[in-house]
Amino acid sequence: LTCERYPVRRLPFSVVSEEDLASFERIVPGRVVTDPEELEASNVDWLRTMRGCSKVLLKPRTTEEVSCILRYCHGRNLAVNPQGGNTGLVGGSVPVFDEVILSTALMNQVISFHSVSGTLVCQAGCVLEELSRYVEERGFVVPLDLGAKGSCHIGGNLATNAGGLRLLRYGSLRGTVLGLEAVLADGTVLNCLTSLRKDNTGYDLKQLFIGSEGTLGVITAVSILCPPKPGAVNVAFLGCPGFAEVLQTFSACKGMLGEILSAFEFMDAECMRLVQHHLLLACPVQESPFYVLVETSGSRAEHDAEKLGGFLDQALGSGLVTDGTLATDQRKVKMLWALRERITEALSRDGHVYKYDVSLPLDRLYDLVTDLRARLRPPAKHVVGYGHLGDGNLHLNVTAEAFSAPLLGDLEPYVYEWTAGQRGSVSAEHGVGFRKRGALGYSKPPEALQLMQQLKTLLDPKGILNPYKTLPVQA
Ligand code: FAD
Ligand code: MLT
Ligand code: ZN
Repeated sequence: LTCERYPVRRLPFSVVSEEDLASFERIVPGRVVTDPEELEASNVDWLRTMRGCSKVLLKPRTTEEVSCILRYCHGRNLAVNPQGGNTGLVGGSVPVFDEVILSTALMNQVISFHSVSGTLVCQAGCVLEELSRYVEERGFVVPLDLGAKGSCHIGGNLATNAGGLRLLRYGSLRGTVLGLEAVLADGTVLNCLTSLRKDNTGYDLKQLFIGSEGTLGVITAVSILCPPKPGAVNVAFLGCPGFAEVLQTFSACKGMLGEILSAFEFMDAECMRLVQHHLLLACPVQESPFYVLVETSGSRAEHDAEKLGGFLDQALGSGLVTDGTLATDQRKVKMLWALRERITEALSRDGHVYKYDVSLPLDRLYDLVTDLRARLRPPAKHVVGYGHLGDGNLHLNVTAEAFSAPLLGDLEPYVYEWTAGQRGSVSAEHGVGFRKRGALGYSKPPEALQLMQQLKTLLDPKGILNPYKTLPVQA
């Protein structure tokens, strides 16, 4: 069997039989989904450009159940696709062929929360937004926020090492995750669910699973350090005349806002047109070539508002910014954030999306967009740039009415070569999944790729966990 659109052959895993289904039914009674309509949502990815044909989805509630499922699949040589909220953007979350889907949807219990340290311990299937609500009621925030918060699971966030909108302030999950529990391919439970800030007892094994995209084990529980909820959150939405001014605004922000700066996001005029057109959102400032969203999070509203106001006056006076608006009340803060957070949704309504997520040196970050705009012809419709500027992370997206192979040929490997030329990363935060595994060599040396392969073989010798994903395409 060969996947129609992609040149990949099914590996010789077993095919799920009636006996397997009966065994699954004994492990997770009443939670074995085989109804094709119900399976459809889990076979297709968020971007609707990848489709698997799995015949069964399992919904364990406990680590023990996950362990039994994996031990069974390992014994039977059945491939398994771990799935959280299915919001991944690189085709890692859905099967390529008929892999068994192991969903964390019912593993959604908070295990403990410590109100002095802010340590949250929970199962992997907790939805990010629900966790946020839970800890906010207790005076804390989850150190991670992203546009997919209403659907993505914390286990999926760890598995992809998601970056998102708060990374500038709280750092990556590699720092804020204190411990995790994972089940290995053969069913072994690896309990590293500690809540210690400091633990140098040899290799930091949890890091192997953070960003491993379901290829080394199934994350079943998470311990994460939540910072105190800031007393005041202010947002400024600004229009900038050019990308040079966006960069200077970032420098000015760091200098003038210091410790209260918590996000610095940018989007270009083309993004603004798309959110206006597809989502009917209104632009709150004068039309500009670039827009910047600056967020501050501090402990005293007046102090922060004064600092932000002072910064805006200076930026307007010096011409770095041509127009700007401030928000202190929750409703307006949300409204301004929606312009940035909902770009992904607007793009997906524009047609087929070619999505690139690269790390680049800041002074070259937007050149890739300009370069492609000059290079591409129809059927390319829109070439847009936005992203987490404060983290050096550009989201470059190209839309077309429908998938076009020649357009893909114009984009790849060009985008990857361009990125490698700057010593950038071909995946800043979305991961590798199915889509980017051919591009790994642009960002990692052969020795590193070989070591990745060796680790995979060590932890999952039969290769049953998320096959066809994340690891380099074999020659
Ligand atoms: P899924 O999509 O279900 O799975 C993603 C990968 O993780 C797959 O390879 C899957 O096999 C594996 N996996 C899932 N759960 C587990 C588990 N428990 N154990 C082991 N492996 C597992 N990403 C960012 O980094 N930053 C953003 O700002 C951001 N914004 C987004 C906005 C929108 C609107 C959308 C649709 C996506 C966005 N993403 C972003 C991408 C996506 O939301 C993240 O990758 C998210 O972390 C995926 O979580 P999930 O639960 O949906 O995982
Ligand atoms: C974002 O920052 O909006 C997300 O990473 C999603 C995307 O790149 O579209
Ligand atoms: Zn992003």
